[in-house]
Amino acid sequence: MSVAVENRAELSQELSDFIEAWRDTPGNLIMVLHKTQEEYGYVAEPVAREVARRLGVPEAQVFGVLTFYNYFNLEPPGKYRVAVCMGTACYLKGGGGILEDLSEYLNAPVNGVTEDMQFSLQAVRCIGCCGLAPAVLLDGEVVGKLTKEKMRDTLKPYLKDGQEA
Ligand code: FES
Repeated sequence: MSVAVENRAELSQELSDFIEAWRDTPGNLIMVLHKTQEEYGYVAEPVAREVARRLGVPEAQVFGVLTFYNYFNLEPPGKYRVAVCMGTACYLKGGGGILEDLSEYLNAPVNGVTEDMQFSLQAVRCIGCCGLAPAVLLDGEVVGKLTKEKMRDTLKPYLKDGQEA
């Protein structure tokens, strides 16, 4: 990854080429931001500023998109991503309680990262397996028919040094 210089960043060659290729295509901003996140794992502020400059769009527009969509991370993500489904089926079967309990268990804010950078905790829309509600994606793998206890047990092997959070 390129190093941030003051409040702007140098972009990788791959990202620069991508921006160049799509620069004049309408609706390119989201596509470029997706590519940016794919490249770095998140969209750091200096990188977002440089993307705005390269595309010739106001920084406010870039930050507006970044903050509107849950999908984008503005901070480095944790090692493991815990995405708790808040879709209707999961919500009705207690997804909200699981999210709250996880936030307490991991000591992480919703849509934030644990202090040890081990977990990102996110509330997301339907993940497409409503029959398993309430469900969570743990690093891309579905864990379904959850209870608070089952969720805590599932996370135990992922805790740093096997310690309880
Ligand atoms: S509502 Fe949770 S998987 Fe669909």
